Amino acid sequence: MNDPAAFVTEAVRRIQEQVPGKTIIAASGGIDSTTAALLVERALGERARAIFVDTGLLRAGEVELVREFFRTSGLRFDVVPAADQFFRALDGVTEPEEKRRRIGETFIRLFESEADRFGTDRLVQGTIAPDWIESGGALRDTIKTHHNVGGVPKDSRLVLVEPLRDLYKDEVRQLAHHLGIPSPDRQPFPGPGLAVRVNGVVTPERVRRARVANAIVEQEVERAVAAKTMARPWQYFAVLLPTRTVGVTGDNRVYGEAVSVRIVESIDAMTATAMEVPRAVLKAISERITRELSGEVVRVLYDVTDKPPATIEWE
Ligand code: XMP
Repeated sequence: MNDPAAFVTEAVRRIQEQVPGKTIIAASGGIDSTTAALLVERALGERARAIFVDTGLLRAGEVELVREFFRTSGLRFDVVPAADQFFRALDGVTEPEEKRRRIGETFIRLFESEADRFGTDRLVQGTIAPDWIESGGALRDTIKTHHNVGGVPKDSRLVLVEPLRDLYKDEVRQLAHHLGIPSPDRQPFPGPGLAVRVNGVVTPERVRRARVANAIVEQEVERAVAAKTMARPWQYFAVLLPTRTVGVTGDNRVYGEAVSVRIVESIDAMTATAMEVPRAVLKAISERITRELSGEVVRVLYDVTDKPPATIEWE
């Protein structure tokens, strides 16, 4: 992006054109939707309200972090607790595209009722170019339906406003930097949350395991980055696999779960390389996951696959 200030001026003008009255904003706390939210706040002021949905599928500490951040940025926002709705929608579902469809639909139904309450039919989303390209836009095959694209049911009366539609991640980061959003370089987190990092059935119990494992990977990688033993990766996380496996704790045989650790380098998420992580970092991750989830997770694997042929997330 050559000129973020010019982009902001033009985006504000277009948002004012697209939203004659009020709008709600789908705000996840991530860089994309936060950048979109701040543009809309500039364009509309109190005619805009950000909605942050607590899906029950978020990372450790995320709700508190996002709440605090929105408060300091001056955004008008509501936190909507909705874990029950999401777990009900995902009950028994294992197929990745079906998970995304159900999550997208649950989001949209929540946004519809929030829009009713606020007196609008407009919904701002932080959709960026790779979201719709990989969802089958631009005449491509659907690689995976990003929840903020494929999840909008045809019968929804919500009119979407997507101010970042044509931007790639690095451009959004420049814009976020320009708008003063803190840590614009933090790693992306998918809208469907930990549901796509819990392969197989999504239950509160399995999401808790994935949440603990994800926090451990984040802490150990960030520690190593701070100590300069490795470069900051594009993304670093854990995936709970849909398989069970045998382990031992003390004298006991345990039939537990397995976790795969994914640490990748990338420029824009369209391609990615599995990172060469120092052995000591992987060992610390493995030891902590099997200790802090003792009797639940008994095996930790490292994913060495690039994108392509794999994708960054497992689902
Ligand atoms: P994949 O797994 O397709 O991911 O290589 C590319 C980038 O997009 C993130 N991702 C998502 N982001 N909604 C999002 O907002 C989604 O449904 C979604 N799926 C994947 C992923 O974390 C990576 O940065």
